[in-house]
Amino acid sequence: MAEPERTIQDLFNLQGRVAIVTGASGWLGSAMSRALAEAGATLVVTSRKAEQAAAFAATLPGQGHIGLGFEQSDTGTIPGFVAEVERRLGRIDVLVNNAYGATAPSIDTATAEDFDRAYHTGVTAYFLLARAVVHHLRRRQAPGSIINIGSMYGVVGSYPDAYTGLAVNSPPNYHGLKGGLIHLTRHLAVYWAKDHVRVNAISPGPFPAPRVSGPMPEFIERLEAKSPMGRMGQPEELKGAVVLLASDAGSYITGQNLLVDGGWTAW
Ligand SMILES: NC(=O)c1ccc[n+]([C@@H]2O[C@H](COP(=O)([O-])OP(=O)(O)OC[C@H]3O[C@@H](n4cnc5c(N)ncnc54)[C@H](OP(=O)(O)O)[C@@H]3O)[C@@H](O)[C@H]2O)c1
Repeated sequence: MAEPERTIQDLFNLQGRVAIVTGASGWLGSAMSRALAEAGATLVVTSRKAEQAAAFAATLPGQGHIGLGFEQSDTGTIPGFVAEVERRLGRIDVLVNNAYGATAPSIDTATAEDFDRAYHTGVTAYFLLARAVVHHLRRRQAPGSIINIGSMYGVVGSYPDAYTGLAVNSPPNYHGLKGGLIHLTRHLAVYWAKDHVRVNAISPGPFPAPRVSGPMPEFIERLEAKSPMGRMGQPEELKGAVVLLASDAGSYITGQNLLVDGGWTAW
């Protein structure tokens, strides 16, 4: 006999699940972490600074969240990080690979090192952490969801006019790595489907943090003029997407790149 159809509340409910969010206290990671906690998950939030991670974990709704220091570029620490989560919480169900930080050179000045560092942090480390989580899920014979945070700039080329004459670049290393990450997402989804692990990307459009929008109103005006919706995204506008892909509401979605971009890539 077929299972009874679950309600929409049941499908989006993350109670009893453990979700890791890397770079969680940043501009977008903090809203996505709150979304997962509000949906009932227990969160493991990371920062390169352990105290910052612990302080942010304490702000999340619900009980039992933990904050851990984690420098994903130091990929040798990944097995120990996953083992510590297993030891403290006993399980991992969801991984949001969100943390990113690298140099932002112009197209005229970018070096091999700029490319190597960006790819190492934003692709290699994402892969190694995702694989360590999949090995954990295999040991538990449990399903899981991995969400890689891409970018609209991994799908379309830049908009050079927005940057001309301003102290902000559209770095080529960032475009290369985000495109690679979105394609890697498809590859992993195909391989890990038999393990019941879904792998998707969320690609935000323009969500400039106050540290960017504050000092550069002209940059924001140019981006808004280019956007079909005529405005920038707000972090809470990623909350629905991350809970959809993390929860059973997205149980037949894998290998996708969900663009949350106000229509930027729809022109
Ligand atoms: N904002 C946008 O408009 C936008 C658009 C498209 C895509 N995205 C993507 O969305 C994600 C989040 O971006 P955001 O705007 O929220 O940036 P953000 O505020 O700078 O947050 C990113 C976090 O990553 C952590 N981090 C940086 N380098 C790291 C490293 N080497 N190892 C571990 N953690 C590191 C930092 O946390 P700690 O300092 O606490 O370690 C930082 O808070 C990124 O993948 C970004 O590419 C953003």
